[in-house]
Amino acid sequence: MNIDTSSLLHTRLAPPVLRGWPRVQAQWVNYIKRAALRQLHASNAGERLLLRIYLIGEQATEIALQRELVTEPPDWLVRQMDQHLAEEQEHVRAFGAALAERGEINVTQHHAQPDWLSRRKIAQWHTIAHRYEASFASGLLVPAFAIGLCAEQMATRVLERHLQWLNQQPESDPLQPLLVRVLADEGRHVQLCSDTLARLLEPHEQPAFSKMLAEIRAIDRSWSVTGAIGLLLMGLALRLLPQRS
Ligand SMILES: [Fe+2]
Ligand SMILES: [Fe+2]
Repeated sequence: MNIDTSSLLHTRLAPPVLRGWPRVQAQWVNYIKRAALRQLHASNAGERLLLRIYLIGEQATEIALQRELVTEPPDWLVRQMDQHLAEEQEHVRAFGAALAERGEINVTQHHAQPDWLSRRKIAQWHTIAHRYEASFASGLLVPAFAIGLCAEQMATRVLERHLQWLNQQPESDPLQPLLVRVLADEGRHVQLCSDTLARLLEPHEQPAFSKMLAEIRAIDRSWSVTGAIGLLLMGLALRLLPQRS
């Protein structure tokens, strides 16, 4: 792909500027999730739940999904994917250590399942990947990295919101350095997915790619308000209900 086409593609891969209903939806999600953060940080059980959500997200990370979809990546991608997976596993260990510091035991010994909403989202992404597989010369690699891009951008958004909220609190929080470090890695992963897509895509595949990316992003958005409300309710319950630990 030449430089002009490549930079045009990078612009398209950046998080979209939302208008109309999706914009309102994103504002609600942001507002509700900030309220949820306030509730979750108000109890030890709430903080642990938040860390468990991050840990499970890292375990079920899109790189694992890419491996499921792409069984035989080309040689130039193998090392990159191995390095990426190693970094996600390091995130799992770091969140596990933060949980252990807060009294949770055996956190990384069992591989927990993502919640129902996330499993449903992953299943819908799989369906899209297989539907578009034949549209690209590189086959499933293209949808796999498009899903990866979307998931990395989502992780970046979540961590940025959390750090912004923590920075506005009067006291500094021991979680800050960990979140800063993970956010830096996720930012690099966004770039990695974009560069990989720029290398994989043929110029004539751009229209099919744009259509597919819009569908992948719509699925990400469709569950966002429900997920945010669920998180807020759990935060409230954990703060208000009597805790055994
Ligand atoms: Fe990660
Ligand atoms: Fe990542």
